Amino acid sequence: MENVKTIQWKDDVLILLDCRKLPEKEEYIICNNYTELGEAIKTLGVRGAPAIGVAAAYGVVLSSIHCIENDLKKEECINYIKSGINYLSSTRPTAINLFWSLNRMNKRLNKIKNLSKEKIKEELLKEANLIFKEDIETNFSIGKYGNDIILDNCNILTHCNAGALATAGYGTALGVVRYAHNSGKNIHVYVDETRPLLQGARLTCWELLKEEIPATLITDNMAGYVMKLKMIDMVIFGADRITANGDVANKIGSYSLAVLAKEHNIPVYVAAPLSTIDLKLKEGKDIPIEERSKEEVRKLFGVKVAPDNIKVFNPAFDVTENNLISGIITEKGIIRPPYKKNIEEMFNKK
Ligand code: MRU
Repeated sequence: MENVKTIQWKDDVLILLDCRKLPEKEEYIICNNYTELGEAIKTLGVRGAPAIGVAAAYGVVLSSIHCIENDLKKEECINYIKSGINYLSSTRPTAINLFWSLNRMNKRLNKIKNLSKEKIKEELLKEANLIFKEDIETNFSIGKYGNDIILDNCNILTHCNAGALATAGYGTALGVVRYAHNSGKNIHVYVDETRPLLQGARLTCWELLKEEIPATLITDNMAGYVMKLKMIDMVIFGADRITANGDVANKIGSYSLAVLAKEHNIPVYVAAPLSTIDLKLKEGKDIPIEERSKEEVRKLFGVKVAPDNIKVFNPAFDVTENNLISGIITEKGIIRPPYKKNIEEMFNKK
């Protein structure tokens, strides 16, 4: 998607398209340091697993610039960059891409810490640019593999936003949609609005309309009915973390869709880069699930929709067990059951 610039690095500053303001306004957040970026991540100015990872990589570069500008001694400088990495790691717990990317930046830092501060900045920027570029290439490749299973005249149900706005560009689940649409297939997307924060309604609809991909918005509680009416051929959503056995954490509501889809014999595909797979975790119940502010449920755009003192449970993600998933579309191909064995094989595939 040429004209959506979710994440930009310009004149030593990180610029993020503010996902909190869309579709009302196209505004940008300027991050000059890692704390500003941390705030943007916590408040979902930048969100979506791969986008958080890419933005965090640039957050590490911002720290290296701080060291140069404040003339920190070498040891202070390395400590400062590392404290930035620690802080950014604490901003959101579920999406593995954040830790994957910070880990990669930290490893790079360890290799170059004897260089001058200017050189450290240069090398960290190279690594962040590489993470950015690889993300777009990876998504394109996910789109290409995913396109193989998209039939002409297909109706796809999607959840949350797994598009250009959730990545450095192109998207994962929406990358598949985009690829199929651009290859000339007649496809139509049903977009789940995705309460509480409406990433489907606000962001996915905005992206799809921008590219004139046919789409219809539904509220989350309509999914079962549209499936029963045979209006859905497949479900595709993204992932925030996938465990070694193929269980998938994604935006709250993904699990309900998968259960409904099983009842109606509709295949469910997950589109995600291999960097979203956490081989260290055995199964979905090991994934830390973020719980967000109760106000996100009690209010809608700051307007009260429930009494102030009502108790609220607000998990941001849920886990869909592997038996409900027909395949995981990655940049190296589609992983099918049995997941444990086939995930390992996909990692080893050249
Ligand atoms: O809370 P968010 O908006 O960061 O949640 C995002 C999602 O759940 C996406 O579906 C997921 O990160 C996949 S993004 C390519």
